[in-house]
Amino acid sequence: MILVVKSGGEKALPEWRACFSEVAPELELRWWDDPKLDPAAIDYALVWDPEPGRLAKLPRLRAIFGAGAGVDAIAADPHLPRHLPLVRCVPPEATQRMGEFVCWAVLSLHKDARRMAVAQAKSDWDAFDPPFAAADKTVGIMGLGAMGLRAAAMLRGLGIPVIGWSRSRKLVDGMECFAGPGEQAAFLARSDVLVCLLPATPETAGMIAAPLLGRLPRGAGLVQVGRGAHQVLPDIIAALDSGQLSGAVLDVFEQEPLAADNPAWAHPRITVTPHAASLPSRLDRARYIAGCIARFERGETLPNLYDPERGY
Ligand code: GLV
Repeated sequence: MILVVKSGGEKALPEWRACFSEVAPELELRWWDDPKLDPAAIDYALVWDPEPGRLAKLPRLRAIFGAGAGVDAIAADPHLPRHLPLVRCVPPEATQRMGEFVCWAVLSLHKDARRMAVAQAKSDWDAFDPPFAAADKTVGIMGLGAMGLRAAAMLRGLGIPVIGWSRSRKLVDGMECFAGPGEQAAFLARSDVLVCLLPATPETAGMIAAPLLGRLPRGAGLVQVGRGAHQVLPDIIAALDSGQLSGAVLDVFEQEPLAADNPAWAHPRITVTPHAASLPSRLDRARYIAGCIARFERGETLPNLYDPERGY
C-alpha cells in the first residue's frame, strides 16, 4: 500500500517515514513529486494544500487525508475527486493542544499580557491591577466541533463561564448553546471574549467584521484560531482603536506568513501568533491516519469526513 505525502514538503518525508514505520510499517511512504512513482500505484494521499488538479490525476486513489483539522485548502481544488473520502486530521492531541491554546489566549487577554510584553520591551515597570477575574467574564465559542468542545471544557475547568454558538444546535451538559443566524446576536451580546473556531466555508468568509464586532459587549476580547478568511483585519484594528475591542490574539491570517509590514505586528493590543494554535506532532497524526487506514481497509466508516454539502 502506497501513501503519497506532500504535507510539510520533501524535507519532512524522513520524519513522516519514521513516524509511520512505528505505527503502520506495512505502508510505503513516497514523496508527492517522486518522478519514479507510478500514479496508478498510489492508494492514499496525505496533503495540506495540493496543487489543484493533482489529486484527480491519481487513478487508483482510495482516500485523501488532510494534514490538519481544516481541509479548506484541499476542498478549494475545483477538480477534487469528490467521490473519495476526505478525512480531516483530528487526533485527540489536536483538540487538547487547541484547548490549551485557547485557555492561554483567554487568560492572556484577561491578564493583559500584551501590555506587560510592551512594557517589558521598554524596561518599564508598568504596575497595574487587572480590574476583574477571568471567572467574571463569559467566553463565547463560535464553532462547537471537537476543538470548540474541548476548549469549552478546559475553560470551564478554570472556572470561566462559557457559552457556545454553532450552525446546528449542540446539546452540551451545563453549557448554554446558541444556534443558527437567528441566535447569533444574542450570543454575541453575552460574549466578553469571542473565540472563533469555525471552519472556513463560503458562509463564514469575512464574518469577523465591523457588524459582528459591534454586537459584542464594549471592550470585548477576540481570539481568532479559525482561518484568516473569516476576518476583515482592518475592521478588527478599527474596533481595537475605538475601544470596542480591548485586545485580540490572532493566530490566522489571510496571507500566511503575515507580511512584515502588516500593522497587526506592532499593534499594542494584538498578539500575533504564527498559525501555531494546534499542530499535533507528526507521530500523533501518523497514528491517527494509520488508524483510519486500518479501519478503511476493514470496510469500516471513517471519522471526521469532509462533507461537501456542509463545506467542512
Ligand atoms: C490547522 O489550522 C488545522 O486545520 O489543523
